[in-house]
Amino acid sequence: MKKITVVGAGHVGATTAQRVAEKELAQEVVLLDIIEGTPQGKGLDQFQSAPIEGFDSRIIGTNDYGPTAGSGIFIVTAGIARKPGMSRDDLVSTNAGIVKSVSEQIRNSSPDAIVIVVSNPLDVMCYVAKEVTGFPRERVIGMAGVLDTARYRAFLAAAMDVSVEDIQAMVLGGHGDSMVPLVSYTTVSGIPVTQMLERKAIDDIVARTRSGGAEIVGLLKTGSAYYAPSAAAVQMAEAIVKNKKRILPCAAWLQGEYGLDDLYLGVPCKLGENGLEQIVEVELSSKEQIALNKSADEVRSTIASVSL
Ligand code: NAI
Ligand code: 2OP
Repeated sequence: MKKITVVGAGHVGATTAQRVAEKELAQEVVLLDIIEGTPQGKGLDQFQSAPIEGFDSRIIGTNDYGPTAGSGIFIVTAGIARKPGMSRDDLVSTNAGIVKSVSEQIRNSSPDAIVIVVSNPLDVMCYVAKEVTGFPRERVIGMAGVLDTARYRAFLAAAMDVSVEDIQAMVLGGHGDSMVPLVSYTTVSGIPVTQMLERKAIDDIVARTRSGGAEIVGLLKTGSAYYAPSAAAVQMAEAIVKNKKRILPCAAWLQGEYGLDDLYLGVPCKLGENGLEQIVEVELSSKEQIALNKSADEVRSTIASVSL
């Protein structure tokens, strides 16, 4: 791909830009922030790591959208992050204003781009980006499920002392305490996890996954996670750039899938060169469907609090 822009040069954004460049997903990586000097300084520092890491992507830092024109993908990380005691929903009004202004600029400078939203509260910020850009749902998707699933997989692998690579799993629903880890679809190289771990241990891991973001906020005290979040956003970008047709849990605009309409929620998505190419509907137990409906209700009530 010719150009990928990362909006927001904070913890998640800067780490994302570095990962995109190290994987050479685009010839040019543009890092944009409103703080003068920050994206330029970080971008220059990152570019100077290129000879050591051996990548030829050029990283450019900027405060304006001119250099972003024609980007194939925007990864939007602009906004404030959580501090201890704050939920993701506490960020809604500040970040809605930020994501609105970013989305206007994307629409004007790169009308054909695919947007991967990272800013929180994730499902609601996806809605803002879709409404303001006017892009079809195929080109506005959100990152949360890949991160939540990675946390779940990491905890499971540690508990069973097996490779993280052998854990297949999906966490669906909104990016909040009501997220829905699908235990029935969790396997260790095809073996149902329920044959490998006691139910109590699985339940504890599900609970830890749900509060995985808060656990890190509590430790960092001044911000939230960024290594795993940036890795997750870049996995989505890579699936698109390389047209891999990966099935990843992403926030997508639902139009009847899973019996839900007109909201963003984490569901299994096929990602390829066109962005969201398919929403995969899997059979859910009635308990899982009830949990997904509850998560949808929470996202809906936060969307209702946003005025654009
Ligand atoms: P941060 O505070 O380190 O960086 C945010 C950056 O956005 C700052 O550099 C700020 O100057 C910039 N910014 C603010 N308004 C802007 C605008 N209009 N245009 C361009 N840049 C602007 O925060 P961090 O840790 O990087 O997190 C960023 C966002 O990502 C937060 O909302 C956080 O909650 C969210 N997040 C979401 C995750 C997910 O799973 N979806 C995971 C981790 C973080
Ligand atoms: C996380 O889950 C804060 O949403 C962010 O780490």
